Amino acid sequence: MIRKKKILVVEDDEYVLGSIKILLNKEGYEVNTALDGLEALSLYRNNSYDLVIADLKMPRMDGFELLKQLKLEFPDVSFIMMTAFGSIKTAVDAMKIGAYDYVAKPVSAEEIRLVIQRTFERQDLIIEILTLRKELEERFGLDNIIGKSNTMQHVYDSILQVANTDATVLITGETGTGKELVAHAIHHNSNRKNCPFVVINCSALPETLLESELFGHEEGAFTGATKQRIGKFEYADTGTVFFDEMGNLPLSMQTKLLRLLQEKSFERIGGNQTIKVNVRVLAATNKDLNKLSGEGCFRKDLYYRLNVIPIQLPSLKERREDIPLLVTHFIEKYNKVFKKEIKSISQHVLNMLMSYCWPGNVRELENFVERAVIMAKDAVITEIELSTPNQKQARERLEDIDDDQITDSSLDDFLAHYENIYITNLLKRCKGRIDSSAKISGIDVKTLYRKMKKYNINKDIFKD
Ligand SMILES: Nc1ncnc2c1ncn2[C@@H]1O[C@H](COP(=O)(O)OP(=O)(O)OP(=O)(O)O)[C@@H](O)[C@H]1O
Ligand SMILES: [Mg+2]
Repeated sequence: MIRKKKILVVEDDEYVLGSIKILLNKEGYEVNTALDGLEALSLYRNNSYDLVIADLKMPRMDGFELLKQLKLEFPDVSFIMMTAFGSIKTAVDAMKIGAYDYVAKPVSAEEIRLVIQRTFERQDLIIEILTLRKELEERFGLDNIIGKSNTMQHVYDSILQVANTDATVLITGETGTGKELVAHAIHHNSNRKNCPFVVINCSALPETLLESELFGHEEGAFTGATKQRIGKFEYADTGTVFFDEMGNLPLSMQTKLLRLLQEKSFERIGGNQTIKVNVRVLAATNKDLNKLSGEGCFRKDLYYRLNVIPIQLPSLKERREDIPLLVTHFIEKYNKVFKKEIKSISQHVLNMLMSYCWPGNVRELENFVERAVIMAKDAVITEIELSTPNQKQARERLEDIDDDQITDSSLDDFLAHYENIYITNLLKRCKGRIDSSAKISGIDVKTLYRKMKKYNINKDIFKD
């Protein structure tokens, strides 16, 4: 059973106090009451409450004094101040010393309901973020690889098991799933960690250059080879060689690589001296090498030789539960880069990120967070700034809300689509009232108007 949230209401007018209690009980909260600040303080010290709602003017100890004292003893207290209608300055002062929010008196049922709801939403979010930060500190991951899902735990186990062997590892997974990170982690957790780690990108160079890059050449081996040059294998001696995009290695080079893997020896181009090296080989690909070898595009024997230990990385949509942790990690990373102090991300933005299909996997998520950190004007990321607003398309998609369509769309289209639905529902819930909608969502009024214009939403149709 979900625990009822417990609220302490402090008000010297017994009639008002009684009616707030009835209202909040109806909303499903457990309510205690006090008639002044002193009584409230003693109750708070002896019980645990999720929220305090207190009037400003009270005998013995007023709302301000109560807030100050509570903040001193319980810095995490959630406090809402009730102030006489029109005294915005007092409300602002209360917020300055740590009140979460305020409600104007006479208190309307609708307003107090919304303010409480919003306070609890924020509270849940803060708790969630603090838990995530703690998890990050406990290092859910290996080196910089983040993720606590079962599939990622399995990846960490494999990395640690193979790191200290000389076994060849084939790392597979879609683009952006972290194959290169895993290769680094294997090297850094091996006893070769103080020796070179050399990356060879198989698709970056034309075949002829690639051969010289790998094996080196002797002076005069070909036109332009004015002096001897050692290749990456010699340079990597005692360390690790990482073949990235292995699926793109030309067939002729595959034969040479196979010999290197089997005999640990080769000759420089134009040379006849056989050079022995001690290298450990790691390879990564987003292609299906088994299938390629069936089609004759990849040597079967090389495939078997590489696939001694396979590590398959999950796509991000297969481990959505890791998204909040990754988001927190990237916020901290880009806070440092851009000298910002973003604390968290709003639940509505997080919900969107959790529902998206992420064809570009962690790289795409990282790019999103980087952009959001740069654009954020507040300590909480509450807004989606689309990189290429494609509103027409987004609106067209909206006409037929269909999950399959969402998974086909780009991140920007998806976010626009989702945000449009969110704002429409929000306005519907608040019966077209902008102030309440802004309060619940944490989006400021100006931005809300801008977004309504962007998505062509008319608030008047939601009015009673
Ligand atoms: N589990 C993870 N935790 C933290 N960051 C990650 C994780 N996986 C990937 N990244 C980040 O995502 C980006 C892409 O990762 P990486 O280059 O390792 O992917 P890849 O699988 O090699 O992709 P490609 O096939 O496109 O080369 C990097 O910035 C990396 O730091
Ligand atoms: Mg890569």
